[in-house]
Amino acid sequence: MARACASADSAIPVTCRIAVLASGRGSNLQALLDAIAAGTLPARIVGVFSDKAQAPALQRACDADIPALALDPNAFDTRVAFDHALFERVDESEADIIVCAGYLRLIDAGVVDARRGRIVNIHPSLLPAFKGLRTHRQALAAGVAEHGASVHFVTPDLDGGPVIAQARVPVLAHDSAETLAQRVLAREHPLLVETLHWLATGRIALAEDAVHVDDMALATPLQLGANNRFA
Ligand code: GRF
Repeated sequence: MARACASADSAIPVTCRIAVLASGRGSNLQALLDAIAAGTLPARIVGVFSDKAQAPALQRACDADIPALALDPNAFDTRVAFDHALFERVDESEADIIVCAGYLRLIDAGVVDARRGRIVNIHPSLLPAFKGLRTHRQALAAGVAEHGASVHFVTPDLDGGPVIAQARVPVLAHDSAETLAQRVLAREHPLLVETLHWLATGRIALAEDAVHVDDMALATPLQLGANNRFA
């Protein structure tokens, strides 16, 4: 079961500690930072971690006075050794929740299992459709009418963990992978913020391989409405 950051029935909200893993641009990280700064997400980002020293996400962290760290995977003998080293540093941040937001590495199964229910990932497709990379191209090639993004608990199965929530967008007649990616990204940001809000307030947890919301197993993922809230 995930450690809830705040009890839903607690009168005194406890600030949830979030660590973010990112390999690139960091626009999802920025969406979290902006929501926290605006007072709409009761959380604190306690560290940003990367496998790429040049990741713009690290600069966003520095601009927000948040500790940022990159480790070079090439400096480690094995992929597992790198994962252990990076997650040791993540653990030092005492994060309650670890968010993979554009983190482009597979994480070792043992490392994931040791933090079961505490790692979530945002993926640009309506899972279980279009796992892996180039999801927008995959969606166009499949000719689907609808595409979107999912936030899911991370398990050792690539993009295969229980899906918490989704945001949907239409695929338009003249879409390219780029225009579709832009439309999806615009929905990823509120999707991630709303999901983290529910996680931070203890409403969502992983139990017996299923997402539980307010202690009830979720039959289908939460859906982000036009008002950027879950219906
Ligand atoms: C997003 O599309 C996310 O869903 C995927 O990688 C991209 C990261 O974008 N996992 P950003 O770095 O948050 O801007």
